[in-house]
Amino acid sequence: MALKKITYLSLFPDSIDSGLSHSLVGKARESGKIELSFVQLREFAKDKHKSVDDIVYGGGAGMLLKSEVLFDAWSSVTSLEEKVKPGFDRPYTILLSPQGKCLTQERAKDLAQSYSHLILVCGHYEGVDERFIEACVDEEMSIGDYVLTGGEFAAMVVSDVVIRLIPGVVGNEDSIRSDSLEDGLLKAPQYTRPREFLGRSVPEVLLSGNHAKIEKWRKEESLSRTQTKRPDLWEKYQKGKRS
Ligand code: ADE
Repeated sequence: MALKKITYLSLFPDSIDSGLSHSLVGKARESGKIELSFVQLREFAKDKHKSVDDIVYGGGAGMLLKSEVLFDAWSSVTSLEEKVKPGFDRPYTILLSPQGKCLTQERAKDLAQSYSHLILVCGHYEGVDERFIEACVDEEMSIGDYVLTGGEFAAMVVSDVVIRLIPGVVGNEDSIRSDSLEDGLLKAPQYTRPREFLGRSVPEVLLSGNHAKIEKWRKEESLSRTQTKRPDLWEKYQKGKRS
């Protein structure tokens, strides 16, 4: 089942909307390959001040997003009954958080292929009340080991990566197959015109027209680049080959 829809629960839905309005993702939205929908958390605030955060029980710095606000916003999209339905034909809820496992190209592929509807919850302040996570969230996801001011940037990153993998979004499917990281390796260096620039020439083999030779060169470059630039990926690649 290919991904069709992403719903965002956020205090800044307009930032996400405009961040995902351009380039390939903008085109994917226009052509209906993906639908993005936005829920403003503040609309679910209960008091006259429209507050969405509160102090932390037991003391501690900062404020937390209130579980009732999050739960009511989430319930406007799905339900606890729906969450326990087996299979992939129900909204799958991801909370963007530095506590989650880091997004990888492989996980992004899974998300694009397995679920039809993702709900991305953007945290703010010091985090969210744990009971919302326990009851409603299927997965916590991080985009790296650093702390953002809120989940919106992370939601945009996850969306961009995942939407790009929906069939038909990238015109030339070969460009997905030859992506850096597609097989756990970096891409070989690439060049366009002119042939000479700043005293540097395009490698001769790329001008040879010999496709077998070019493929062989690209594979070798891809292996040696990964080894020198990303030893962490290289180690994983070697392990994968052994197992
Ligand atoms: N929210 C704050 N920091 C984050 C991160 N690194 N990844 C995802 N969501 C976040």
